[in-house]
Amino acid sequence: MIDSLNRPMRDLRISVIDRCNFRCTYCMPSEKYDHSYRFLDKDEWLSFEEIVRLTRIFVQMGVTKVRITGGEPLLRPDLSQLVGRLSRLTGIDDLALTTNGSLLEAQASTLYESGLKRLTVSLDTLNEGISRQMNGERGSVAQILKGIALAQEVGFQSIKINTVVQRGVNDHTILDLVRYFRGTSHVIRFIEYMDVGNQNRWDVGHVVPSAEIVAIIEREFPLKRLKARYDSEVASRYGFVDGRGEIGFISSVSQPFCANCSRIRLSADGKLYTCLFATRSTDLRGPLRRGFSDQEIISIIQSVWSARIDR
Ligand code: 5AD
Ligand code: SF4
Repeated sequence: MIDSLNRPMRDLRISVIDRCNFRCTYCMPSEKYDHSYRFLDKDEWLSFEEIVRLTRIFVQMGVTKVRITGGEPLLRPDLSQLVGRLSRLTGIDDLALTTNGSLLEAQASTLYESGLKRLTVSLDTLNEGISRQMNGERGSVAQILKGIALAQEVGFQSIKINTVVQRGVNDHTILDLVRYFRGTSHVIRFIEYMDVGNQNRWDVGHVVPSAEIVAIIEREFPLKRLKARYDSEVASRYGFVDGRGEIGFISSVSQPFCANCSRIRLSADGKLYTCLFATRSTDLRGPLRRGFSDQEIISIIQSVWSARIDR
């Protein structure tokens, strides 16, 4: 199945909860996500049965990669049960999860045993003060690092570290992160700060283009460009010339990769989005709860994907 620009649907991102225990200024700024913000009630969440059924349908339609996201997915009660059920579905080559790491120490082992193989942990800096400034005065870097270390111990290999870079905020702490993770099996990916429409006062002046970050790192650690592993890979990969690992750059602003985007997104309340920046969505929870057949659900997804023009 392809969309109007010939792109296949390959990656499904499932949000399992809209809540987060952090308030990153670039994602869920505390001024907007305060006590008056209406988060979903539990009965509005897709149940695990509903998520598994939809995932099975998506896999049947060509999806091979699944990522669990949030909000903060580890806040969803009994998440490892969902992971266990998804990991047993045939047809998924890659089951991954993105977390802020604050609850990882408590859950890494159960998640690994449930069949999760890949982890991405968001970590913008090693500096506690800057971290708190960026995530709304929550959590601690030390706790996240403990979570990462334990995750490695229980079996997670090559954990990805996502670092959003904001000029004048954490750009001077990039090299600390590189030094910390260099020589480990973990891969840091520097992400250009994006305007996600969350009243985060985005300004292009706050974006540090990847080329600039490459230059900063190269002053200390020479890098060489690595080949993409697959068409829709969003990170440009670089290896340290001395062989001590690799890093990645997600240049959503300076070099948008929408042209070969194969991602579809399912929100915690069962709405289908074809783009991170989409304002319109298609409800699947209603049809699920009204007893639609798999074939009827497939038709809805097909019509959404084939009409897709996001670029
Ligand atoms: N710009 C860039 N990356 C963002 N993320 C969230 N909001 C933004 C933004 N405005 C990233 C975080 C996290 C992942 C869930 O999304 O780094 O790793
Ligand atoms: Fe958003 Fe992740 Fe930060 Fe939570 S931890 S506010 S989901 S970027």
